[in-house]
Amino acid sequence: MSSQQRIGLAVVLAMLVGWVIFLLSASKRTYEPGTELVTAPNRKLYYDDEGMEGKRLTKYLWWAFATLAIPAVALPVYWVREPFRQTGAGLDRGKAYFAEEAIKRGEWYFQASPGEPPTPREPHYGCENCHGKKGVGGVAAFTLTDPANPDALPQQVQWTAPPLNTVMLRYRPDEVLFILTYGRAGTPMPPWGIKGGGALNDQQLSDLIAYLDSIKLDPKQVQDANLAQYGTDGKTLFEAFCARCHTQGASYGKPGVQGGGALGPDLTGGATLRQFPTIAQQISWVTDTVEVGKQYGQRGISSGRMPFFGDMLTDDQIKAIVNYERTL
Ligand code: HEC
Ligand code: HEC
Repeated sequence: MSSQQRIGLAVVLAMLVGWVIFLLSASKRTYEPGTELVTAPNRKLYYDDEGMEGKRLTKYLWWAFATLAIPAVALPVYWVREPFRQTGAGLDRGKAYFAEEAIKRGEWYFQASPGEPPTPREPHYGCENCHGKKGVGGVAAFTLTDPANPDALPQQVQWTAPPLNTVMLRYRPDEVLFILTYGRAGTPMPPWGIKGGGALNDQQLSDLIAYLDSIKLDPKQVQDANLAQYGTDGKTLFEAFCARCHTQGASYGKPGVQGGGALGPDLTGGATLRQFPTIAQQISWVTDTVEVGKQYGQRGISSGRMPFFGDMLTDDQIKAIVNYERTL
């Protein structure tokens, strides 16, 4: 039972008790003919003018004054405090409060349904089914068909779902919004936003992004861990961080022709040498990327889909990858 229901029940009980007492006392009353002249309140004689306008009147006026003084004093005091209260609620505590609530909702959406939720709430959307609990990364089953070969048997593959506890280190929030809205065509990642044909509205998507931001790891720790795990060999690093977009099949363990390009362009055949005449330009592109619509390299226009790696990899590692790419 909620506290509102409990209070309501207490009020109903108090009223019932009151009625019982009233009825019991009323049943004891006797009505002799003529007694109503004395007992009925409207028949009783009231005070005369002398009695009413003397001390009694002054007393009532003081009472009226006192009760009026309460709002008269309390309201200005309230108004004096109000701006501080608003600042406190709207800008400091309030902002943190709203952010916390957004993260909680985002986490709820992110989780896989654990059966019936304790109270009816919005559904879970099960990101963690593919991306792992708390976004540590995982795999998704996927059926590949060959558009050039419609008669060929579809292939069942296990598609790597990237970790999301670092996604806010390699994409800006608006870029993540784009990915969530439209998904990744040709991969297990479905579109989630209404614009992309999914079920989530803007508020839900922004809650999910707030959650992803809340689980993001510390860049320094990520860099250290990546350095320890992958070292500074350009090819190894490329396979770990770049191949899934720049090589067909890398996401499901069948890297095809180097540079086939699952999502990003083919980098082979000296492509990067043509796009980035100097190595510094290419390093800057891989480290920071470029706002959507802006130019990169000689003739590139950023679509916001290429991640940036400045927060994930060390400068030496990025240099090593770039050097490797320039030999492809
Ligand atoms: C059916 C499995 C599946 C589900 C469910 C799923 N994803 Fe994905 N997601 C993937 C895969 C696979 C990729 C990588 C696609 C690729 O290879 O480009 C991906 C990519 C992403 C990316 C881009 C990451 C990057 O570094 O490229 C983001 C962000 C993302 N998913 C967020 C979400 C969120 C948030 C949800 C829940 C609303 C979700 N995903 C649900 C499978 C899934
Ligand atoms: C999530 C997919 C994805 C990953 C992972 C990724 N890229 Fe890209 N990359 C792209 C896309 C998409 C483009 C095309 C530019 C755009 O759309 O903004 C691109 C473009 C590039 C280009 C420019 C190619 C040209 O000719 O214009 C280079 C160089 C590059 N990426 C290097 C890398 C390196 C190095 C890594 C790993 C450290 C990497 N990419 C990881 C998606 C990706």
